[in-house]
Amino acid sequence: MTLKLNDTYLKKFISEHEYNCIAPMVEVADKMLRSKTGAGNSFLGWLDLPENYDKEEFARIKDAAKRIQSDCEAFIVIGIGGSYLGSKAVIDFLKQSNNNSSLPEIYFAGCNISATSLNELISVCKSKNVCINVISKSGTTTEPAVAFRILRALLEEKYGVEEARKRIYVTTDKSRGTLKAFSTQQGYETFVVPDDVGGRFSVLTAVGLLPIAVAGIDIDELMHGANAARLAYTDTNINNNDAYKYAAIRNILYRKGKNLELLVGYEPYMAMIQEWWKQLYGESEGKDGKGIFPASVIFSTDLHSLGQYIQQGNRMLFETVLSINDSKSSLEIPYDEANIDGLNFLAGKDINDLQQTAMKATQLAHYDGGVPNIHIELEERSAYCLGYLIYFFELACAISGYILGVNPFDQPGVEDYKNNMFAMLGKPGYEKLKQELESRNI
Ligand code: PA5
Repeated sequence: MTLKLNDTYLKKFISEHEYNCIAPMVEVADKMLRSKTGAGNSFLGWLDLPENYDKEEFARIKDAAKRIQSDCEAFIVIGIGGSYLGSKAVIDFLKQSNNNSSLPEIYFAGCNISATSLNELISVCKSKNVCINVISKSGTTTEPAVAFRILRALLEEKYGVEEARKRIYVTTDKSRGTLKAFSTQQGYETFVVPDDVGGRFSVLTAVGLLPIAVAGIDIDELMHGANAARLAYTDTNINNNDAYKYAAIRNILYRKGKNLELLVGYEPYMAMIQEWWKQLYGESEGKDGKGIFPASVIFSTDLHSLGQYIQQGNRMLFETVLSINDSKSSLEIPYDEANIDGLNFLAGKDINDLQQTAMKATQLAHYDGGVPNIHIELEERSAYCLGYLIYFFELACAISGYILGVNPFDQPGVEDYKNNMFAMLGKPGYEKLKQELESRNI
């Protein structure tokens, strides 16, 4: 069992006939997806990616990763949204189990507009040997473009133009965009964001794979895990397909007014997986006035801040608990003769047992408090299992979006703030919008 969906804590919220009612919709959604007849069907490259990837580029990614590992102490990944969340999620999830001090430190830039963050990275660039991977599918996103301009100038100043060229790696569209044109002109090594894979579905392309490989993570295992999930989730019957069942449950709960889903983790190393998942579901489903709002918590930390709300606040939420059966780390609680803290009843127990108990106690309390609870159990903390989980969430997201009646593969709303910002900053071509905004006197 690599991944298991446990519905124990859903029983009083969803009855059998509700599963029966939604089953035909899942079948239709599957048909739209597999026959590529649904909305956004030109962005389905991720569906077969774990098998159908560019093998020549994959080998080049591994070679580049080895070179980067030996050429630098600090590797700066520049990108935002789908161009950084996946790699950061995978690296954070696996890094402690993968600790190797000979590998470069990995930093992320261009994922915010913060002089403080950029100044910190400028100090890193000055004091350490650095390589850069700039990632942008469009090649025009402001945050990474500005970070790249600043850090590239620094590298050129530090190493000279020729040496800097060898330290800059670009991941972008294969033929379009400013970044592609600039890379060709400069002679940077480039990797491709496939046309048919959107940003939030791109972690298993060069977008995610190059930084992940530099972090020393086995990208073959990641792909094998994703491919195993691809092969496992083909049955259209929700009783035989946990990805489809997850999509079905979300939709049943949404129709009952459960508008907010909390992805719950019990390990701090899961925080960026939660961020990646939020983008995947939020950007795929939040449109046409619909969609579950994706949020996240780390327990037991957040039980001491948000626990009260979850237990007794507005009943518009449900939880999806993601637990890892084998975290590959253990720690026994010691016996203490004096027992002044009164904790000897825990002596000899592992912290993992304590975590399991906290999880069960919380699930039960929240269930009793009116919070439906989906439980996803992952076998272990490994690249294989994580690849499996990534594919599980991507597939479920596509099915869930189609059941909801939206195009899960576009993100028209993301452009609105960008356009306003370009107009306000005086970008050529945005003069009319600038005038309109100014006339509103806000
Ligand atoms: O999912 C998406 O499309 C977005 O989050 C993008 O990944 C993000 O805006 C970055 O875009 P780009 O890779 O074009 O710089």
